[in-house]
Amino acid sequence: MGAKFVLVANRLPVSVTRTEEGFLFKPSVGGLATALSSISTEKILWVGWPGLPAEDFAGHEKKVFSELESLGCYPVCLSREEIEVFYHGFANRTLWPLCHYFLQYTIFEAAYWEGYREVNRKYAETVAELADEEATVWVHDYQLFLVPGFLRRLLPRARIGFFLHIPFPSYEVFRVLPWRREILEGLLGADLVGFHTYEYTRHFLSSLRRLLGYEHQLGLVTTETRAVKVEVFPISIDYQKFARAAEDSEVQARIEALRREVGERRLILSVDRLDYTKGIPQRLWAYEAFLERYPEWREQVVLVLVGVPSRTEVEHYQELKSEVDELIGRINGRFGTLGWTPVHYLYRSLDFPELAALYWLAEVALVTPLRDGMNLIAKEYVATVPEDRGVLILSEMAGAAAELSEAMLVNPFSQEDLVRALHEALSLPRDEKIERNRRMKERLRRYDVHRWAREFLSALEETRKLQESFVSH
Ligand code: F6P
Repeated sequence: MGAKFVLVANRLPVSVTRTEEGFLFKPSVGGLATALSSISTEKILWVGWPGLPAEDFAGHEKKVFSELESLGCYPVCLSREEIEVFYHGFANRTLWPLCHYFLQYTIFEAAYWEGYREVNRKYAETVAELADEEATVWVHDYQLFLVPGFLRRLLPRARIGFFLHIPFPSYEVFRVLPWRREILEGLLGADLVGFHTYEYTRHFLSSLRRLLGYEHQLGLVTTETRAVKVEVFPISIDYQKFARAAEDSEVQARIEALRREVGERRLILSVDRLDYTKGIPQRLWAYEAFLERYPEWREQVVLVLVGVPSRTEVEHYQELKSEVDELIGRINGRFGTLGWTPVHYLYRSLDFPELAALYWLAEVALVTPLRDGMNLIAKEYVATVPEDRGVLILSEMAGAAAELSEAMLVNPFSQEDLVRALHEALSLPRDEKIERNRRMKERLRRYDVHRWAREFLSALEETRKLQESFVSH
């Protein structure tokens, strides 16, 4: 096919489901898709998993493939068994907890590792069949750590970029992984490796030095054969889409409906995938303690907690769901009255107008993950909320804290911090809200997801030039 620009991610930006009437193709308009459509002059080919096991479309491959092709996508077909070991197994029972410092949840299982390696090889082989020899290939996230290495062998002249969307943990944590060297070697197949924050970059460089003995100069790592650049690119959002959300009539209708439902009460918002890294129980305990300590806020506030179902096959996610259900029941039972429900819980994903209306109306957003690569909810909230209304309470453990320093920063493990921040946020003078929000909005406006993608891709070009000078010396 000779594609010049290939984007490889675990999932395609289209999910395929099988219904009684046939197959359903649901495109997801994520930030990445928007960013790339605005910058790339080349036609982009997306390679990834369509979201259902290959067994479910056996016999219908032609139809599924041609429909996806018309959407600029090429599927990597994974069997149920491959999904189990690669996705539920190594990606989500090993790498995810490890990179988020949940060592107690991390499972080290040789069969998971082998499945992960083979599926990564499959992704690389699929790309190699479709791409031009000198294509630009942008590989995304921890599910595909080994793809750059496999791909480099198959397409030695390609420009390969890798971006990690989650934290890269400290060397002391990363070193416990039995396959730590293979992961690092896989990443060194790329020309450019990008992270959200300076800290993640530092952790990666320190692991390279201590585990493989590779030094670097200003982020340029030199191995026996190649030079690889390591750099910081904090991902962002489509700022204008959120900043202008309230101009949309559907969003306005949602805001009006929500206003009627909430009445005069002050809205506190919490939105996450239902993931143990997000610190949802800690947030609920803190809200309970806040209502206990400040009885004057009872009946005056309402917490809307949105938990988007995620990775429901993995045990720790199931346990979290029960814990959250129970905690909400306890708080509502303890403080609720016939006219007031302290926590409104939505266990589902929201469409854009619903989400934007919540962002617009919420006086406080509680974004308190225990560990988070970046956290785009924090950025979306700041972009959407009117400058004189919102206060962002943000965890120090989220990558976003490096940029959103005017938020109320909290240690999510400290209940005291959360309780105090809730009280202060609800009491913050209007002028101070404006001052904080203006600065953050301006920063997000300037460095949006378009700029993020542009900077990554031009750094990939620059790296090529650097490598040429490295080879000629
Ligand atoms: O940012 C981490 C990440 O795993 C992304 O790769 C993914 O798009 C998102 O979280 C949702 O996870 P999943 O694809 O496992 O549902």
